[in-house]
Amino acid sequence: MINKTKRNGTAILKIKGKTIELPIYSGTDGPDVIDVKSLYAETGVFTLDPGFTSTGSCESQITFINGEEGILLHRGYPIDQLAENSGFLEVSYLLLNGELPNQAQFSEFSHRITQHTMLHTQMDRFFLGFRRDSHPMAMLTGTVGAMSAFYPDSMDNTDPDERRLASIRLLAKMPTLAARIYKYSVGQPFVDPLNELGYAENFLRMCFSIPAEKYVSNPVLVRAMDRLLILQADHEQNASTSTVRLAGSSGAHPYASIAAGVASLWGPSHGGANEACLRMLHEIGSVDRIPEFIARAKDKDDPFRLMGFGHRVYKNYDPRAKVMQQTVHELVSELDVKTSPVMQIAMELERIALEDEYFVEKKLYPNVDFYSGIAMDTIGFPTDMFTVLFALGRTVGWVSQLNEMIEDPAQRIGRPRQIYTGPAKRDYVPISKR
Ligand code: CMC
Repeated sequence: MINKTKRNGTAILKIKGKTIELPIYSGTDGPDVIDVKSLYAETGVFTLDPGFTSTGSCESQITFINGEEGILLHRGYPIDQLAENSGFLEVSYLLLNGELPNQAQFSEFSHRITQHTMLHTQMDRFFLGFRRDSHPMAMLTGTVGAMSAFYPDSMDNTDPDERRLASIRLLAKMPTLAARIYKYSVGQPFVDPLNELGYAENFLRMCFSIPAEKYVSNPVLVRAMDRLLILQADHEQNASTSTVRLAGSSGAHPYASIAAGVASLWGPSHGGANEACLRMLHEIGSVDRIPEFIARAKDKDDPFRLMGFGHRVYKNYDPRAKVMQQTVHELVSELDVKTSPVMQIAMELERIALEDEYFVEKKLYPNVDFYSGIAMDTIGFPTDMFTVLFALGRTVGWVSQLNEMIEDPAQRIGRPRQIYTGPAKRDYVPISKR
């Protein structure tokens, strides 16, 4: 591989009486990497890095994070500039294609998306198999995976046309799918997409309009929804994206690979944190109980963590959290919910945690999920829908990363190794003799 990287020196490793040279490469930005591909062949040893804290898994040109300085770039553009000036579909085009579109390219892209917003009607029946109280993420994992049963003409990863069609379908149908999941769980009729509306507006209408009343969009809510999607669109090689890449590396078709990403996102350490964070804010209940929860978060014997704080990569304020905080302020002032207890608790919790020695020393800052849950709650979504909304935004990132991997000529099946610490070879003992 090594398409855009520059050779920047050599690491010398002395091992088992042998000295080997490993190339060091520099990317456009970020730490250099030591290329250890030849290590096993040359020395017979592997590297061990559970949690991948020092391991780069791929070369990518999509997203860059500088965790020390709190910088997030998509194809070079800072996230705050995109959130301020762009829209989710334009950011999607950028992630998928590498450049911002001109007007003609954008119109063509938007048109293509709107041609694919509807779901196969048979998929609606699929929902009836779920209990109404199923977790929305359980329904999303199942239905995204099931898309391959409905769109078999876009499953061949090796065919660029099928790959493009699958990308467009996933991006176009995800809002329809997510809205149906919401409607199914609240027992209301499904609302079909209206293609004259923008992506976020269409989604909100499919969620919140009912046949008995005329639906009127609120532009502040539409803008907030669009921003939520932009902020979650991609985030480099996180757990769900790495899951998508690993699943796709075996040649699995795109819908299966994205369903794997959805499943990974659900965990509370990842996309499920937005749901967990809002539940935590409700559990705290009042500003005077914050010190009790801060003390629990610091107690080594208590598994409790302050949800929405800390990040594997960011050791500074998550730049997405800043934009999200601003969006929440816009929402609360538009909807006149300034006195919302949850908002008051969130702001005070952030203030106290940012001054607390434990959080300062460990560089634990609010992450995107600290405020995204409040934004989604204020827009009107129930807590268990939050991670579905995250998946809705992240789909374009997953698809872009999957395509990048497949298009890399050096792509091979992902196959990590291990250090084995189980029993040494031993002989089978019949059950009567055990
Ligand atoms: N509250 C209290 N202590 C914490 C927290 C927290 N939220 N996060 C990390 N720590 C402590 C942790 O106990 C450890 O302390 P020590 O070194 O004394 O053992 C230290 O900070 C480092 O934590 P870690 O678990 O080794 O760090 P990690 O990089 O493996 O985990 C994380 C990152 C995001 C899973 C973690 O910070 C966390 O669990 N945060 C809460 C969940 C959350 O908000 N997740 C959303 C992440 S952003 C959205 C996304 O990208 O998915």
